[in-house]
Amino acid sequence: MDAAIECVDLIKTFPGKPPVEAVRGLSLSIKRGECFGILGPNGAGKTTTLEILEGLQTPTSGTVRILGKTWESHAPWLREKTGISLQETKLSEELTVLETVRLFSSFYQDSADPNDVIAQVSLESKARSLIGKLSGGQKQRVALACALVGKPELLFLDEPTTGLDPQSRRQVWELVQNYQDKGGTVLITTHYMDEAEKLCGSLAIVDQGKIIAEGSPAQLIKSHAGQTRIEVDFDTPPGSNWIETGLELSQMENLDPNHFVLHSSSLIESLPKVLEAAKKSGKTIQAIRTHQPTLEDVFVALTGRHLRDEGASS
Ligand SMILES: Nc1ncnc2c1ncn2[C@@H]1O[C@H](COP(=O)(O)OP(=O)(O)O)[C@@H](O)[C@H]1O
Ligand SMILES: [Mg+2]
Repeated sequence: MDAAIECVDLIKTFPGKPPVEAVRGLSLSIKRGECFGILGPNGAGKTTTLEILEGLQTPTSGTVRILGKTWESHAPWLREKTGISLQETKLSEELTVLETVRLFSSFYQDSADPNDVIAQVSLESKARSLIGKLSGGQKQRVALACALVGKPELLFLDEPTTGLDPQSRRQVWELVQNYQDKGGTVLITTHYMDEAEKLCGSLAIVDQGKIIAEGSPAQLIKSHAGQTRIEVDFDTPPGSNWIETGLELSQMENLDPNHFVLHSSSLIESLPKVLEAAKKSGKTIQAIRTHQPTLEDVFVALTGRHLRDEGASS
């Protein structure tokens, strides 16, 4: 029973005219102690998948096992073991931070001290402030405190940093990493590729209710996004043979006589060669730009679309 979270052939169809096939045959196996990410654009089926795994929605078909148990047979036990931060948490604006976290702690038989959890999310100074008076980032940290107060073995986070400023995002990331460092298992959804790269050991990229690629960020980039792009601008044309290309450096485009685009499988090895060749050509480099492939490039390579085509969240 190694897997913390396992689902097989998950399907969720919402009735309607026409019906919406939100999840279309999705299988996952997530190990204990890992931070696993579901990365995909708006409408990909991330929230629906997560809510099924959280026991908040029933699938149309397919099986789910959390810590080896099913929601049908072990819901109260699983509630004790899991912490949930929903995509949109509607906390009561009239309660203070401490009252809110206390309320959530009362849902669990074995919970942490609310004050300790508030300190963990760095909101000590706001413990007696009303939720309604907090910033977006602070509210999100309260939501995390509510998810953590039951001392969960598993943490489900649905787009925990959508709409937050960069500093708040980093605070949330730190919290997630601290939780994982202490042995917790995390399942997180996001449409931010930098978040996925930062936090997740493994990822499933989902699109239209299906997994289209799975692996570590580095594996995904290596197998789907190809090479680093090196652009070189010269002051005067160096001639098309200024550099010898080979295995790890392939010349691709010569956009105009002064401007070259090369593809490299190893930036560290290629860059000195590029500089050396430029020097030998006797011409001066005016500008050099590099672009390392990212998960965004993986998504584009797989779908022909960008991760964030339209609005911010759905
Ligand atoms: N309760 C619902 N009734 C009908 N359609 C829904 C419902 N919940 C989600 N959907 C639809 O299912 C698809 C997947 O939604 P969702 O799981 O929220 O995607 P994501 O979280 O990746 O943005 C979308 O087309 C959405 O409109
Ligand atoms: Mg969602």
